[in-house]
Amino acid sequence: MAILKAVIPAAGLGTRLLPATKSQPKEMLPIVDRPAIQYVVEEAIGSGIRDLLIITGRGKRSLEDHFDRAVELESFLLAKDDNRMITTLREIAEGADFFFIRQKEPKGLGHAVSCARRHIANEPFAVMLGDDIFVSEPPALAQMMDFYERQPGIIVAIQEVPVAQTSLYGIVSGATVSDSVFRVDDLVEKPAAGTAPSNLAIVGRYIFPPEIFEALDRTEPDARGEIQLTDAIRKLINHVPIYGYRFTGKRYDIGSRLSYLTTNIELALQRPDLHDDLLVFLKELVGEKLPT
Ligand code: UTP
Repeated sequence: MAILKAVIPAAGLGTRLLPATKSQPKEMLPIVDRPAIQYVVEEAIGSGIRDLLIITGRGKRSLEDHFDRAVELESFLLAKDDNRMITTLREIAEGADFFFIRQKEPKGLGHAVSCARRHIANEPFAVMLGDDIFVSEPPALAQMMDFYERQPGIIVAIQEVPVAQTSLYGIVSGATVSDSVFRVDDLVEKPAAGTAPSNLAIVGRYIFPPEIFEALDRTEPDARGEIQLTDAIRKLINHVPIYGYRFTGKRYDIGSRLSYLTTNIELALQRPDLHDDLLVFLKELVGEKLPT
């Protein structure tokens, strides 16, 4: 069955980026000149998905506004003959059908995904984290969907991370099948330092069969009261084949101060309109004002 819908959880509190996220969703923070979540939405659309459910929460209304038409703004731009920007704004609102549901309490990523149950009903679907940007051609999700068509099951994007960082991720164990495919036989959420079964981390893209909802129902909250998606996947190990997919491309996690800043710089350097001037600035900055 084809993947037609994607769920984008964006209801977290974004505490690592406070105070910037006090009254503004982390997913709406700008990366160069667009909110982080717009990159995620563009990846979904580039992968052929036109039905997007965004999981929001309190104080996250700007997410809905961003993916809506801005008629007043368009009239203003029309008066200035800025047709290019009008087209850009309309494309944001009209590229897909957007649906929104609120996670009433931020009880973890697994709980956020379970909020999608009624919208998804009985089909396989994608989950794309709203604070993880993947830059690749073809889009990372399209690569995973292509694999899923040949090998249905649960597909999780995986990436090698430094051993010192394994305690920040869900980590898989299993066997390599090919350059891009890893057969998962177990997975553990945020293993304590020194106990990770590998350095292959689950990163923000997933494909699930609808059975994940029933597994989420059976998943107990962890010590912090959060329902972890990794724990629900683990419950399906003996029922559904689980594959880690090493996508081609690069991932940018914008969730910490440093990664937010470096993502901005790197993606700005990839932009032809900004590359040269930014590089001159960075070279001068480093050459002339290197901290002592
Ligand atoms: P994170 O753990 O990176 O986001 O969740 P967070 O909890 O907002 O951030 P910190 O740790 O407090 O800084 C990954 C994704 O899952 C969503 C987040 O919005 C983010 O896109 N999420 C997380 C939810 O939708 N609901 C939750 O209860 C938790």
